[in-house]
Amino acid sequence: MVPRCALHPISIKLMRQGHPWVTLDAFSRRFPREAKFVVGQDERRMDIGVLLHDPDHKVVRGRLWSITRPWDEKLFWKEVEERLIQARSVRVQLESFKARNDRYWIFGEADNLPGLMLVQLADRFIVQFYALCWRDMFLELKPLLLKHFPEIKEENLWIQTRSEDGSGQKAPTLWNGADKVETFEVQEDGINIIARLGEAYDYGLYPDMAAVRFALKPELTNRKKVLNLYSYTGAFSLQALHLGAEEVVSVDLSGKYLGWLEENLTKNKFAGKHRSLKMPVEEALRLLKAEGHQFDAIISDPPSASSDGNKRTSALQAYEKQWGDLQDLLAPKGWLLSFLNTHTVSPTKFDAHLKGLPGNRLKISKRLGLKDDCPTFKGFHEGNYLKGTLWV
Ligand SMILES: C[S@@+](CC[C@H](N)C(=O)[O-])C[C@H]1O[C@@H](n2cnc3c(N)ncnc32)[C@H](O)[C@@H]1O
Repeated sequence: MVPRCALHPISIKLMRQGHPWVTLDAFSRRFPREAKFVVGQDERRMDIGVLLHDPDHKVVRGRLWSITRPWDEKLFWKEVEERLIQARSVRVQLESFKARNDRYWIFGEADNLPGLMLVQLADRFIVQFYALCWRDMFLELKPLLLKHFPEIKEENLWIQTRSEDGSGQKAPTLWNGADKVETFEVQEDGINIIARLGEAYDYGLYPDMAAVRFALKPELTNRKKVLNLYSYTGAFSLQALHLGAEEVVSVDLSGKYLGWLEENLTKNKFAGKHRSLKMPVEEALRLLKAEGHQFDAIISDPPSASSDGNKRTSALQAYEKQWGDLQDLLAPKGWLLSFLNTHTVSPTKFDAHLKGLPGNRLKISKRLGLKDDCPTFKGFHEGNYLKGTLWV
């Protein structure tokens, strides 16, 4: 029998608005530890839904699995299988999905597989556990993944715990725990990007940005001079060069990532049209202004909180400081793409904040956020963590 448990009034309210999580509180703390599932109930002891129980997760204790009544635990693996099939079928049709081999085949809550992600990087596949309970069920999940995603070869299957469970972000490992580091190339819509698994929690590219890049193609095509801020290994810089840029400047604090970017440029035969600046963005903006540059496109993708080596700043604070210089560096018909990588600020708040900055002369042209293989849905603001706004 699946235990029935009372939920906190706030959880009840949020779940009714479409939020699929029950976070840690005085109610969820009392869910029986050994239960894999619990049925959440409202104040009148009416069932709200079946939750996947995650007793070891520091924040998210329950994730909505089903609102079917009555629900029987025997249904679970059949439902998993149906949801895997569905996740696959919605993606194979997508134009941007076909154009690359860095992809999300499963995107957690949006695919009704809460806390579970499946990423493809060329012929490698990474199962990401945001909900720790999937890690415990992996040996049952694996044959279903191999059956419904026939592209996966067992020897290329990796696992990674991405949950904020206090253990920090860990590097992926091969599913059987074997210690291995692999470097290989991923193809994204005409560009090649070097990826690495087994060394760090990140891979050298962010596959959730691939659909955003695809959507940016019309705007980025033939932009002659492009500035890529917080460039990381340079996916946007490579894309700009591929789409006809004659000059690209990339800025990042990290020598490691800029070295990786240089390798990516060589792989794509773009060396010579590019300049790397290893320094804090604020300093780079001052330098580029002093040198008299103007850019046809500026892309800025700061981490949610960043450090210039001295002081930690939130992305919003960084935009506040940089907004004037960013505008000065734009050519007359240039555009600026500002990203914000946190769910704590809504897209409307983000835009309103930048719009209201003193001296703002820019107008919003369009929004670019998670899409295609990384869908979002109303009521789940944590899932809508990446916001992009194009300013002209
Ligand atoms: C979210 S990643 C950018 C991802 C990239 N736009 C992409 O799509 O591949 C953020 C990058 O910002 C860099 N960074 C963090 N703080 C910085 C700062 N103050 N100045 C310059 N770069 C910074 C980090 O080293 C990291 O490479």
